[in-house]
Amino acid sequence: MSEEPRLVGSEALVEDDQLDTSLRPKTLDEYVGQEAVREQLGIQVEAAKRRGEPVEHVLLAGPPGLGKTTLAYIIGNELGVAVRTTSGPAIDHAGALGSILMQMADRDVFFIDEIHRLNRIVEESLYPALEDFTFDTVLGKGVGASAVRLPLQRFTCVGATTRQGLLSAPLRDRFGAIYRLDFYSRPELERIVRRSARILALEVEEEAVVEVARRSRGTPRIANRLLRRVRDYAQVRADGVATAEVANRALAMLSVDAEGLDPLDRRILETIIHKFSGGPVGLDTIATSLSEEPETIEEVYEPFLMQQGYIQRTSRGRLATALAYRHLGLAPPAPGTEQQSLL
Ligand SMILES: Nc1ncnc2c1ncn2[C@@H]1O[C@H](COP(=O)(O)OP(=O)(O)OP(=O)(O)O)[C@@H](O)[C@H]1O
Ligand SMILES: [Mg+2]
Repeated sequence: MSEEPRLVGSEALVEDDQLDTSLRPKTLDEYVGQEAVREQLGIQVEAAKRRGEPVEHVLLAGPPGLGKTTLAYIIGNELGVAVRTTSGPAIDHAGALGSILMQMADRDVFFIDEIHRLNRIVEESLYPALEDFTFDTVLGKGVGASAVRLPLQRFTCVGATTRQGLLSAPLRDRFGAIYRLDFYSRPELERIVRRSARILALEVEEEAVVEVARRSRGTPRIANRLLRRVRDYAQVRADGVATAEVANRALAMLSVDAEGLDPLDRRILETIIHKFSGGPVGLDTIATSLSEEPETIEEVYEPFLMQQGYIQRTSRGRLATALAYRHLGLAPPAPGTEQQSLL
């Protein structure tokens, strides 16, 4: 298994953290793209604000790096309240959940990242908190112990998940609004790159903006990461200006190809095509063949490859499309073959 962090992997790297705080949009107006989500969430937040109520609980779903955490902080910021952050795996028992909930002030945001990874007992103790703003617990020990229902302040739970399908129906149903984030378009990514360059005080040529946007897998986190590499390169090897040539040379060093696919993306396509004659082949088989976790492939790599039309999911497994063949410089399967008939 590769332990090297992938440069165009959409998972957060430690180095992203410092960058994130300065580049992360703080208001819905600054948030680029995801128009439908922005509009609906904007109405939801504004209405709650006028009524002096908390925003209804919000579930944000989508691949890593598309702006779920960013939106959670924006909601808190727009409401002028605090955001308390935790994650599914971090809350290991109901008491830990209770103590966070008890600390929240009126209308605060409670952000639970990776909410699909809550354990069942914690999840069940979250239900009454979401529904009635109460928390059930047991006070005392032994024969003197008694079940009590503690009142909580009204709050907004914002849950984020990369795997909406793994959420239990009862949990999902307790969210008043569910928003799915999609990969960003090229023009949207270009806007993000321009905005980030401005914040980083980096002079960047328009062609370099286009190049960075094109290679960022539809993902703002990757766009920002690539831009930073271009900035480093510009400072060390050029006079600090990110020209098209500087961007191209910097990005060429990173093994990210012109469509944003990195070596592992290409290996996935090559595996399906060369080892399994283009598919269909099961996810587990691909994963084993690449010594990667099936979950990682499914959550991080596959959504983009599918969205871009390089692979297709059929009832019998994954299939490499004609686009995948052409991307690797190969001839697509001839008409009349099994792959062709499935496509
Ligand atoms: N709509 C946007 N406009 C501008 N920048 C954005 C937008 N969405 C995300 N970003 C940038 O991308 C970075 C990553 O976004 P964020 O951390 O919110 O992703 P995430 O969906 O929470 O990912 P994960 O699933 O890995 O937690 C942010 O720090 C921000 O700089
Ligand atoms: Mg996040």
